[in-house]
Amino acid sequence: MKVLVIGSGGREHALCWKIAESIRVSKVFCAPGNGGTQEVAENININPHEIDKLLDFALKESIDLTVVGPEAPLVDGIVDKFNEKGLRIFGVNEKTAKLEGSKIYAKEFMEKYEIPTAKYRRYTNIDKAIKGLDEFDYPLVIKADGLCLGKGVIICNTKEEGVNTLKSMMEDKIFGTAGEAVIIEEFLEGVEASLICLVSQGKLIPMESAQDYKKIFDNDQGPNTGGVGCFSSSNLFDKELERKIQKEILSKIETGFEYEYLDYSGVLFIGLMLTKDMPKVLEFNVRFGDPETEVLIPRLENNIVDILQKTLDGNLREEDLVWTDKKCVTVVATSEGYPGKYEKGKEITGLKDLDEDILLFHNGTKIKDGKVYTNGGRVISVTALGDTLEEARNKIYKNIDKIYFDGMYYRRDIAKI
Ligand SMILES: Nc1ncnc2c1ncn2[C@@H]1O[C@H](COP(=O)(O)OP(=O)(O)O)[C@@H](O)[C@H]1O
Ligand SMILES: [Mg+2]
Repeated sequence: MKVLVIGSGGREHALCWKIAESIRVSKVFCAPGNGGTQEVAENININPHEIDKLLDFALKESIDLTVVGPEAPLVDGIVDKFNEKGLRIFGVNEKTAKLEGSKIYAKEFMEKYEIPTAKYRRYTNIDKAIKGLDEFDYPLVIKADGLCLGKGVIICNTKEEGVNTLKSMMEDKIFGTAGEAVIIEEFLEGVEASLICLVSQGKLIPMESAQDYKKIFDNDQGPNTGGVGCFSSSNLFDKELERKIQKEILSKIETGFEYEYLDYSGVLFIGLMLTKDMPKVLEFNVRFGDPETEVLIPRLENNIVDILQKTLDGNLREEDLVWTDKKCVTVVATSEGYPGKYEKGKEITGLKDLDEDILLFHNGTKIKDGKVYTNGGRVISVTALGDTLEEARNKIYKNIDKIYFDGMYYRRDIAKI
């Protein structure tokens, strides 16, 4: 069969790599892909938002299965369009993608089905929103309703910051229409964790746990990023917490899907805050995480194409997922300046000098005339399996300095627990 993966990050490289391993797959395409996907798939020069072009390509090439990486095409209804043409595609439909595409919709869903979450108010009028600040203690959290590439959430410590944030979102429209409606919510104290589930026609099947690192500098200092390191499994989850999450969160989400007629097949990524009294939901994403995918895929022992197909057919069961007991760690090398401004086009050397058991997933690279160049803020995820987290992390840190590009930076404390 022929498979098309949409996206261009480390998540998509990991997916392409695992899909290409399947004996049932004769050809993998990646649109648009990166320097890494090029080694296991054929890159196609179409961007994820060009849904009509992707559709034409899938029809012309008789693609048997399309797998969507990023959220934007899901929110724009790519799944509905492919389904209308009878094409099989892994991802959620437009209606369901609102759980990520609108934070207000997600909060209303949580409220209606009594899923524990932070107290909140929603606003579309700036004067009312400014008055609304007085209903919360500081710090408080302001969130733009729509998709903002992970930049639409601001934690405010004072009223002045609150007012300025509301003005920049609602008056100056720094996020365009995504910030025309906002949420003000209570700040939750606790440890953050995420739970990625496959959703097989409404039934949630949790994958193994993973824990990512959002801050750019060691000891969680500096600004937030898309994620610069990750490991699996996480030691935050124990039987008691899993039981609570199942009862208070997962089963209520399943009820919500049913009552809202959300025909859900794909991925649900649940962002959690483990507060003192109970786990609370911070947000929903409707796709695989990046860098979580880079540490989950190497631990999955199944044929991934079977798993994706079963998920779509509505008959995936928890026992179907087989995970190695080994731990997996990834450290993301980034461009100087990321998550702020950075330059692209630096030559990357040393990639061939790494030990054989290092897995490399490219996040933002490009190959030209046989040479690899940086092409993003997150550049390459250096990944390893090990019997313990320590073994896996030692392998990575023993190898990562063999890689070089001008301005290369990475955290030195990933999976150091
Ligand atoms: N209510 C909250 N209390 C404390 N921190 C929060 C809260 N909501 C969000 N955050 C922090 O902001 C980050 C981004 O928020 P999130 O809702 O995940 O939006 P997005 O990923 O779309 O930017 C979270 O990972 C968390 O660190
Ligand atoms: Mg988030």
